Amino acid sequence: MWFFFSPKIVYGPDSLVFFENITGKKCFIVTDKILEDLGYVKILTDKLAKFDKEWEIFTDVEPDPKEESITISKEKCLSYKPDIIIGLGGGSVMDVAKGLWAVYEFPQYGLDDLHPFNRDLYDLGKKVKLVAIPTTSGTGAETTWSTIISRLEPEGDIEVKKKYEQAHKGLIPMYAIVDPIFPIGMPSHLTSGTGFDALAHSIEGLTSVWKNEFSNAMCLKAVELVFKFLPTVYKDGKNEEARDMMHQAATIAGLGFGNSQAHIGHTLGHVWGAVYHIPHGISVGLFLPYIVQYCLNNPDENDTTAKIFGNLAKQLGWTEWNTEEHTAANIVIDKIKQLQKEVELPTKLADTGVSREDMDKNMNMLISLCFQSSSLTMSPRSANAEDLQKLFEYAYEGKDVDF
Ligand SMILES: [Fe+2]
Repeated sequence: MWFFFSPKIVYGPDSLVFFENITGKKCFIVTDKILEDLGYVKILTDKLAKFDKEWEIFTDVEPDPKEESITISKEKCLSYKPDIIIGLGGGSVMDVAKGLWAVYEFPQYGLDDLHPFNRDLYDLGKKVKLVAIPTTSGTGAETTWSTIISRLEPEGDIEVKKKYEQAHKGLIPMYAIVDPIFPIGMPSHLTSGTGFDALAHSIEGLTSVWKNEFSNAMCLKAVELVFKFLPTVYKDGKNEEARDMMHQAATIAGLGFGNSQAHIGHTLGHVWGAVYHIPHGISVGLFLPYIVQYCLNNPDENDTTAKIFGNLAKQLGWTEWNTEEHTAANIVIDKIKQLQKEVELPTKLADTGVSREDMDKNMNMLISLCFQSSSLTMSPRSANAEDLQKLFEYAYEGKDVDF
């Protein structure tokens, strides 16, 4: 048995009018203050007003949200009693909206009850609907079944915001409204970072140990769209067609990796981002060429990474169909590096403002945090502590992975 789970997806310009068809009157909007200040919440509420809906707005979602965001918003929902919860924002907002949806509909549960073996969660949606509206084109969180919430905990002699991933298929939003009106205003650095998050989802989703034919189809298409449209939206953020296609690409990548998994690139990226406060997309995107090379160097003769990336290069027309498998696979690494440069992202950890001395001092902690990340187990090549240390060191210097 395997599976492919998806929300109902409405996409393209003016998708917000679909609210006309979503039954229920009272909407609880989960978002953040920046989006409210940018006028994005008003775009949504103007549309809700048109369809005779009411709303209450919760803007207290911070990046890498903490558990308190869920407990506070749950109390507000218990008093407001919405029919629809709307997550309007990026990954952090979606994480809170999904967690809130579950603990509001099942008030007896807390965050630790949101795990794959809790059968009640398959019934989510009977009391309140969850509608996810992404405002960035990257996380794919509007399609996925996990929610990442942080708790401040000690690690060695410092306090670290530790990310806890809660996952259940029932947490997939009921509707994803993928309207390009929201990302059209994204600044270029956010466009490139989030775009590389979508790319990392599709590249890792293609090779995770849970990959399957349905997820492969989604990941392949997403890689194609990112390479085709990310350089355009980076240079010309107002290009409506490219914005729409990147917005769709991120959702398609979400369906891809949500039904497969991300793996070691997200492990390293999450850890680096958590310790040094680097935005998620920039962090996972930076590691991408290194982990592709690392997986390609897998000494296990049954490993299929070279075949997968070789085929990817051929399917995207980057080389001839008769090109030798490893040669074709290496083109994928070159293409990722080229795209990083084109959209002006850092290509090595040294570029993220962290000193080598600081990284070396924290190395044991960095490795320990990697082993606490569930996505590490999804990698087609198992990494031990020595491999992880070398990956950090090679990525710091910008060296080709030769082990
Ligand atoms: Fe990601």
